Amino acid sequence: MALPKRITANPTASPSANPSARQMGAELVQLSGIRKVYNAGQPNEIEVLHGLDLRIRQGEFAALIGPSGSGKSTLLNVLGLLERASAGEYVLAGKAVSALDDDGLTRLRRDTLGFVFQFHHLLPAFSAEENVTMPARVRDGVVTPQARARARELLDAVGLAHAMDRTPAQLSGGMQQRVAIARALMLQPALVLADEPTGNLDTASSNEVFGLMRRIHDEVGTSFLVVTHDPRLAARCDRVIELVDGHIDRDGPISASTSMPSSPPSLPPSLPPSST
Ligand SMILES: Nc1ncnc2c1ncn2[C@@H]1O[C@H](COP(=O)(O)OP(=O)(O)OP(=O)(O)O)[C@@H](O)[C@H]1O
Ligand SMILES: [Mg+2]
Repeated sequence: MALPKRITANPTASPSANPSARQMGAELVQLSGIRKVYNAGQPNEIEVLHGLDLRIRQGEFAALIGPSGSGKSTLLNVLGLLERASAGEYVLAGKAVSALDDDGLTRLRRDTLGFVFQFHHLLPAFSAEENVTMPARVRDGVVTPQARARARELLDAVGLAHAMDRTPAQLSGGMQQRVAIARALMLQPALVLADEPTGNLDTASSNEVFGLMRRIHDEVGTSFLVVTHDPRLAARCDRVIELVDGHIDRDGPISASTSMPSSPPSLPPSLPPSST
């Protein structure tokens, strides 16, 4: 991967983003007694999350693991404000989610969270650069020169300076995910939620994409919660949360004996701390 250039202060950062959420160690996510029921009151009613308690602090790099169907994506959707919990309390970046209307949820999501999915969900008709600017375009209605500069800086930082004008179809799977990561960082989120971001990649691309997320965490302080089925990747996270049947079965630091180096040793210091 090309060596990254420095990322400077983000001119597109929202002034309404909660600065306290960006202090290392500040409580970012607080879930208490979170339940999620689908098809409530119907014959096919199913409770997927059975009263979860979970805290995530700013600066954590955590894996979310568990068997298929255990509720990982459901939990990520609740954390990502894409779905509301059926019961329980969720405080994100100091804001009680249940008190927010849909506009409030949209603003909080936009100002606090970034998303990376298993399938990149890049817009096929747009270039890598246009895809990365998209969150700013959606927020502001236009793409400012500052937003364009930020997108180019991010693409440079993820090793894609040479591919900014390519459309997703002209990029490899690993490159597409790197564009998706750059897009997730566009509005400078405090927390990136990644649902099997390497699930569709070969081992080499998977390592590269995971290493990139780890490097962003180490250099910028962005928090990550990464769903993975790959025990080798989970072992490279600082904390592993295991869901089984909608319960948190295990939650703790990776033991020293199983942990592996978190990022390639040769990367230069490059991404300065976030500006807000
Ligand atoms: N919209 C929905 N309506 C009804 N049931 C749902 C819905 N979404 C998820 N479920 C059910 O919730 C359970 C948990 O699903 P979820 O997708 O969260 O699991 P997961 O841990 O992400 O699994 P995987 O590892 O396969 O991605 C499953 O039984 C699933 O069928
Ligand atoms: Mg899932």
